[in-house]
Amino acid sequence: MSRVRIKSLMNDKKAWGICDMKKVTTAACSAILLCSAAQAQSADPLAPTGSWSAYTAGRAATPPMGWNSWNAFAGTVDEEKVMGSAQRILDSGLAGKGYRYINLDDGWMAKRRLSDGHLMLRAEKFPSTAASSDKETPSFKPYTDKLHAMGFKAGIYSDMGRNTCTQAWAATDEDLPKGSVAEREVGLHDHIDQDIDMYFREWGFDYIKVDGCGLRDFGPNSAKVKAGLHRALTPIMDLGAISRTDVAAVQKLFRQVGKAIERSRPDGDFIYSLCIWGAANVRAWAKDVGNTSRTSDDITPAWGRLLVNFDSAVHRGLYAHPGSWNDPDMLYIGAGDFDADHITEARSHFALWAMLNAPLLIGADLRKTPDTLMEIFGNADIIALDQDVAGNQATVAYDSNDVQILIKTLNNGDKAVAVFNRGSGATDVNLQATQLKYRDDAPVEITDLWTKKQLSFTKETKLRVAPRETMIFRARGTRALADGFYLSELPGKVNPAVDGVTRPIADPTIFRTAYGWGGTRGAGDRPQYAGWGGARADSAPYGQTLQIARKTYQSGIGILVNSRLEVRNDRYRRFATKVGVDDSATDKTNVVTFIVYGDGKRLAETRPLKWGMPAEPIEVDVSGVKLVELVARSATTENEALPVTWGEAALTGS
Ligand code: GAL
Repeated sequence: MSRVRIKSLMNDKKAWGICDMKKVTTAACSAILLCSAAQAQSADPLAPTGSWSAYTAGRAATPPMGWNSWNAFAGTVDEEKVMGSAQRILDSGLAGKGYRYINLDDGWMAKRRLSDGHLMLRAEKFPSTAASSDKETPSFKPYTDKLHAMGFKAGIYSDMGRNTCTQAWAATDEDLPKGSVAEREVGLHDHIDQDIDMYFREWGFDYIKVDGCGLRDFGPNSAKVKAGLHRALTPIMDLGAISRTDVAAVQKLFRQVGKAIERSRPDGDFIYSLCIWGAANVRAWAKDVGNTSRTSDDITPAWGRLLVNFDSAVHRGLYAHPGSWNDPDMLYIGAGDFDADHITEARSHFALWAMLNAPLLIGADLRKTPDTLMEIFGNADIIALDQDVAGNQATVAYDSNDVQILIKTLNNGDKAVAVFNRGSGATDVNLQATQLKYRDDAPVEITDLWTKKQLSFTKETKLRVAPRETMIFRARGTRALADGFYLSELPGKVNPAVDGVTRPIADPTIFRTAYGWGGTRGAGDRPQYAGWGGARADSAPYGQTLQIARKTYQSGIGILVNSRLEVRNDRYRRFATKVGVDDSATDKTNVVTFIVYGDGKRLAETRPLKWGMPAEPIEVDVSGVKLVELVARSATTENEALPVTWGEAALTGS
């Protein structure tokens, strides 16, 4: 067997090295290679798998839409309040527009029955549960039956620890579970299979939100634990410090819940929503574990808080795909800065969430919501952006602290455009055809999705944007890349299976609001959400312009070294890119090899490249290939110092 032939059998560099070094016979060498290849397959995260690894179980091909009780009612939720909002969704026509999930948040639990571990609900708050056949054990089945009969799906809430968030934070114990310390342990911890089976099989829920305060707020030093109210559970998660978090342990628990849901709902009709607010580096791994994942702490009805939540997701488009979405929290339209006296802010909130492919979960008491706000929820053109089946979260085409331009590629090739004025003064914005990756010598037609006004421009147009306004358009022009797409236009098809981040750190770019939980007491909000430095579309991992040896790339994927990207290909014949170490790297010594695989087979490999060397072009035939994998490999363990660029990476030629 020739050296070349052996090499082509291999996907693994280390095994190749072993064989070469040992200078063994051809037969022995192939045996070693096969064995090492098998080992490498399991041990080497950069080895190609030929299969898409992001989560696709459940029913989240597009982001879930519906209603949740928390923002409007917190712990005071009851059946009348839920049904009142559900009825309005039906009567107003919102149900027909996709608002489907009616979700009960924290506040429904009475206690855990110690004889059999069964969870008891607050029957007095949910009178339909009295119809249960076993009078001793009220069941939510009549309640979910009612919602199902109305055409809705039903959602429930739990916590990954022994206790929930209201148990950690509520000022009074009025709406909290009652009884002994053990009876008040209503969370999933140690009861995963039992509770999940009850929620999905017995009670008929279709959606679960799993919160995380139980893993964080009940350490031996917590006031409530010290007061004897709760049993201590050593925290494995800390929102403020990733180094005080056991990421693997947190992940393991959430995976366990996912598996339990899949067992209890074998037909796959479920949504699994993770709620750990960006802690435990969840912004990197939730895409492999559940259908939606909170990227930040709770939204409040305040403009500054909207910015925090928006920022926590906006640069993370590559981490969202059909089946698994970034969740910047529920809509707060209907209160505070987003009430009927703040239509501009309310519209911005809705438009931005749609551009992020966020779940559209209304958080208002719809029994009282004025029509002006109902019209916002009902804007079918904007809902269509959120629900577009391509599942491409918007990419930031222009970024600043004042104005951002977001572009999202839709399934039919149109673009959605949002021009967001974050600030408090009106501003002029130049929207350019090139920002949409359209040719600047051909007209671009845009339709304003609020006013429905149409406009055509060539090269660029000037827009006057009011304070806190988000102008939102659907656009059509002539593509600069005529016969395909840059990967950065298709984040829904690109999965950073391994993003190279070895030391997750807090993201310093997220707006920190003065509206913190404690007013302006103490030292203020610190950067806290992990996920800084991950894979990015049209940007280096830490926000710099993509550059290789001083040449700038307007389009491309920036990622750290020792990474593997999975790219879905449904119809293209050619994959081309220009690769190299990004100029933003601080490691000027280590070399990087770029390898492209098609359905697990090596298609191309560069020579070793290091900082300052010009980009190396790669062009391969991917006809019939379903999954392209892009690996950037180096001997270093300091991945953070070595950002790499897949410049102008594109699939073309359908
Ligand atoms: C928080 C969560 C909120 C809400 C609340 C209930 O942790 O982020 O969305 O569910 O708990 O106590």
